[in-house]
Amino acid sequence: MNDKQRVAEHAAQKIENGMLVGLGTGSTANYFIEALARRHQQESLQIQVVASSVVSTIKAQQLGLPLRSMEHITELDVYVDGADEVAPDSTLLKGRGSDLVREKLLAKAAKAFWVLIDPSKKVERIGQHFPIAIEAMPFAWQLVQRSLADIGGDAKLRHTGDGLFVTSYGSLVLDTVFDPATDVEQLNGRLNAIPGIVEHGIFAGLATAVFCGENGRIEERQ
Ligand code: A5P
Repeated sequence: MNDKQRVAEHAAQKIENGMLVGLGTGSTANYFIEALARRHQQESLQIQVVASSVVSTIKAQQLGLPLRSMEHITELDVYVDGADEVAPDSTLLKGRGSDLVREKLLAKAAKAFWVLIDPSKKVERIGQHFPIAIEAMPFAWQLVQRSLADIGGDAKLRHTGDGLFVTSYGSLVLDTVFDPATDVEQLNGRLNAIPGIVEHGIFAGLATAVFCGENGRIEERQ
């Protein structure tokens, strides 16, 4: 069992009967879905789930988890997902995948948001390893790119193979690099205020617990 599997198993053990559980997207989230499905089958754990992506929906469906669709919920008990980077104050960077919009909606709607990581995800500052993924309305991407330049962002359209990368929400992605000295809290507010941005990868003030699997042990930060 690797660190991602171990931390996913740990989180699945904390799920209780009656909970509505949000499922994240990515390799760690996949391990969590599998662990949760095992408890659902073997222990008759009574839960419902809501998924943040088509991939997670299909996985949950195949494993027999009772699914609800996002359109029909107003809150959930817990959202469980991985992250690309986690800063010391538990601000996250997400969005290497294509499901940022649903991920942030579920993280915000949840009473608790558990982030599952291994040590490679810990950083001193957001943007240390990856650019910030910024989803832009397709017709607005150049206007958004210009607004980002105005606040010091170097934004490049994300490509895939021969074409442009399109998220599951239908947005284009501007992978954007800012000066390392940029204040992330201020940047979060500025990005929230730019017209044409659908969503971006800074998850500030949303995580309620970070579980890190390292060499067989689980470190928990509340
Ligand atoms: C999806 O958009 C991402 O934010 C993922 O949550 C993130 O990339 C973590 O992925 P892994 O669990 O595969 O490392």
